[in-house]
Amino acid sequence: MKKADSKPQSELGDIPADVFRKHLHEVADWIADYRENIAERPIAPTAPPGAVLAQLQTEPPETGASFGEIFADIERVIVPGVAHWAHPQFMSYFGCTTTSPGILAEMITAALNVNAMTWRTSPAATELETLVLDWLRQWLGLPDDFTGVVYDTASISTMHALAVAREEASTSIRTLGLSGRSELPIFRIYTSDQAHSSVEKAAIALGLGEHNVRRIASDSDFRMNVTALREAVTSDLRHGFKPLAVVATVGTTSTASVDPVREIAAVCAQHQMWLHLDAAYGGGLALLPEHKWVTDGWAEADSLVLNPHKMLFVPFDFSALYVREIDRLRRLFTLTPEHLHLRDPAGAEINYMDYGVQLGRRFRALKAWVVWRSFGREGMAARIREHLRLAQLFASWIEGDPRFEISAPVMMGVVCFRLKNADDKAADQKNSATVAKINASGQAYLTQTKLRGRTVMRLGLGNVLTTEEHLTRVWELIREAV
Ligand SMILES: Cc1ncc(COP(=O)(O)O)c(C=O)c1O
Repeated sequence: MKKADSKPQSELGDIPADVFRKHLHEVADWIADYRENIAERPIAPTAPPGAVLAQLQTEPPETGASFGEIFADIERVIVPGVAHWAHPQFMSYFGCTTTSPGILAEMITAALNVNAMTWRTSPAATELETLVLDWLRQWLGLPDDFTGVVYDTASISTMHALAVAREEASTSIRTLGLSGRSELPIFRIYTSDQAHSSVEKAAIALGLGEHNVRRIASDSDFRMNVTALREAVTSDLRHGFKPLAVVATVGTTSTASVDPVREIAAVCAQHQMWLHLDAAYGGGLALLPEHKWVTDGWAEADSLVLNPHKMLFVPFDFSALYVREIDRLRRLFTLTPEHLHLRDPAGAEINYMDYGVQLGRRFRALKAWVVWRSFGREGMAARIREHLRLAQLFASWIEGDPRFEISAPVMMGVVCFRLKNADDKAADQKNSATVAKINASGQAYLTQTKLRGRTVMRLGLGNVLTTEEHLTRVWELIREAV
């Protein structure tokens, strides 16, 4: 961006309107150029920790600077200092699902800067949240007694779901807490050895204790072993514990495996346990009619979390939590300070601040509404289908090269694979070194994970900018690196 001609801001008020307009156009062009030419950038910096900080002024600014000066630093230090998640050859985690409609919506959201805490503080923010959550519920095929609320992340969604489970198992925890109450049992939560660590984080936050999350062994396809779940519950009951909840995963972090939800639901029903589904990534597959299998058993759950920023093209962050009879969540968290008593006496409105710990809430619904209207379900399904095709194509390349093997069934846009070696330890090092070498090249970005104690490479596809050509290039890089 060329240096802007604005003067340092010394007067009161905002920067002058004409200066703002000029910068806005420049930033708009910069964003369009960034997206158009992103494939030419090195994906991630190789500089050591502290390198960014070392290039920035560390004393707090005493006087104002022009946006031109600030933007020069953004281009010089900040942009080269980020990992470019939107790069089409960034194939780490679940890929990056930002899209141009989402970026446009984020700009408008920043301009509006409304707080969606109550209906009155911004009626459209609340009503749009209700609308997009119901669109998503319909796409997921969830029964209409499921109602949603938007948070930032799946970790927070899961914590809120388990808070309701905890309250239902002993109704006075909201008021009396847990400490010093010898009459309360020790609650247990069950999840597979492939589940995300957000389950333990929720247990920590809710005072249930990290060690009361029992990791249940998974089968050869990385799905929770239901016999092992039954045994763990029975053993806990024998020892005086109170089985509280099961968190089943639809699309696990490492391999995108799907737990047998229907069978798990039967165990939950038998022991009156809460069933929470972590469909943060894999839930998006439900938009494809040919993949409806993924929703099997969902109607039996008590809650479900899905992150549209993982598969459904909404920029980070947006997490949707659905709870059956969501009033259970509202009753747990409704607590209205005096200054927020501006409510409709008839109680006709939704005040999303009542559905969780947060008071102030970003207007996240706008970007989901813009993205989902721009693509429609069909457009999203077509793009997801392409990512699934690319994942299968990549898996076929792996299978065709005798140096590699597939490490887990390819269920979604995730492929786990590894270099073979008779000596497992040496193979681990080789796989790890290969990922490091590829990532250092700046031309591709992968993750490594551990499966059954062995290091494997992992590739995730989810970016609308990624094409077969990009994938071919990444495959070449992998082969060159080994
Ligand atoms: C299956 C699964 N659940 C939960 C999470 C946590 O997501 P968040 O970062 O939104 O808290 C992740 C993160 O990747 C995940 O893979």
